[in-house]
Amino acid sequence: MSILRIKGGRALSGSIRAHGSKNAILPMMAASILYPGITVLHGVPEILDVFYMIEILEQLGCKVKWQDSSLVIDASAIESVSLSSCMTGKMRSSVFLLGPLLARCGEAKLGQPGGCSIGSRPVDIHVAGLQQMGAELTEENGWLRASASCLHGNVIRLPFPSVGATENLIMAAVLAEGETILHHAAREPEIGDLCRMLQGMGARIKGIGSSTLEITGVDRLRESAYTVMGDRIEASTYLIAAAASGGELMVENVLPGQLTGVLTALSICGCDVMHNQRAVYLRRKDRLRPVPYLRTAPFPGFPTDVQSQMMALLSCADGESIIHETIFEGRFQTALELRKMGADICMEGNKAVIQGVQRLTGTKVCARDLRGGAALVIAGLTAEGITEICHCTYIQRGYAALAQHLVDLGADIEMVEIH
Ligand code: EPZ
Repeated sequence: MSILRIKGGRALSGSIRAHGSKNAILPMMAASILYPGITVLHGVPEILDVFYMIEILEQLGCKVKWQDSSLVIDASAIESVSLSSCMTGKMRSSVFLLGPLLARCGEAKLGQPGGCSIGSRPVDIHVAGLQQMGAELTEENGWLRASASCLHGNVIRLPFPSVGATENLIMAAVLAEGETILHHAAREPEIGDLCRMLQGMGARIKGIGSSTLEITGVDRLRESAYTVMGDRIEASTYLIAAAASGGELMVENVLPGQLTGVLTALSICGCDVMHNQRAVYLRRKDRLRPVPYLRTAPFPGFPTDVQSQMMALLSCADGESIIHETIFEGRFQTALELRKMGADICMEGNKAVIQGVQRLTGTKVCARDLRGGAALVIAGLTAEGITEICHCTYIQRGYAALAQHLVDLGADIEMVEIH
């Protein structure tokens, strides 16, 4: 088993370039099935979830090869529409295959999607939307079976702006008959990136970036190449780590307009935050100030994927902070690990009340999900003594070369194999 071992107390300093976005590249890889030929994706991050998605595409009959940091996906021959739970169970993103397989092959048979245990994470919004496009879906014995002789457009109003459901319905609609209008669609930047990639394949999509998307189905897509956006969640994580360590950091390959909620929170904490079109610079000035009330919300609100990292930061702020998690009902489990390090966090339903302490103390902790694991790294960077984080495979699912990047920024951190 590998663990991350961190000796806290060093201020980070330097610059990094955000890798390609995990939450953009995964639906894009699924979307490559929509065209029976070559799709090239550039700037692909080397993270576990990408390798899992490559396995899934190859299981379906695609040929996938790396060319430096690009993926060349040949989806000429789809030989299967079935994925067992040992494949789909590795990550939530396996559910992104539903729309493309229905659009390309007219059927799909998927095991239960996996992913971080941050809530129940049903797929009812995906299912209801696809049914409105003419698909028949049944769930039995852990399998989700879907079939559609011909997907047709429809006017669909999502009951909640689900990111994955929005992406699945877009991918189903690009080859459907007629026009699909999605109301109350999610507006996360990763969805816009997927739409621009699909436009490059010949899809007809209007309203990108808004909560109303109009997709006009086409008969066939074309060969294309696309460069994935920088990962705004990874960028936010490093900025918070720099703030927590008392240092300074430049993050490149990220659009500041996609980080407004995070940059505002970091300014409230007392950091100097500056940016140009494609980079953000942060410097911690003095003692961290608390954030009296921080509420997660669908984009452009504060991202739930940065909530745990902020909790780690605010654990050492000068006063009381409140975090209100409105997206996932199980996303406070990292608080239990932070408490082992001396954090004073009290959970009241979907609110966490954090009383800042002078300093955390290093100890053995466990990552319980991807972003929670990153939060424990942030806590370890500032804690007194040594922090050891087990189950760090979670972290490797979404962060490329995290330990090496942090060493380059001055941290004392190493990945250690223990038997
Ligand atoms: C995507 O997950 C991201 N994952 C998540 O990032 C992110 O936290 C989430 O969007 C919200 O921004 C990827 O893009 C691969 P949702 P997704 O559907 O699509 C409920 C990370 O750390 N819901 O927007 O699964 C659901 O239970 C990961 O990178 C239904 O009720 O999120 C949740 O409470 C974690 N029925 C809320 O909506 C449905 O059919 C938001 O889920 C679908 C969702």
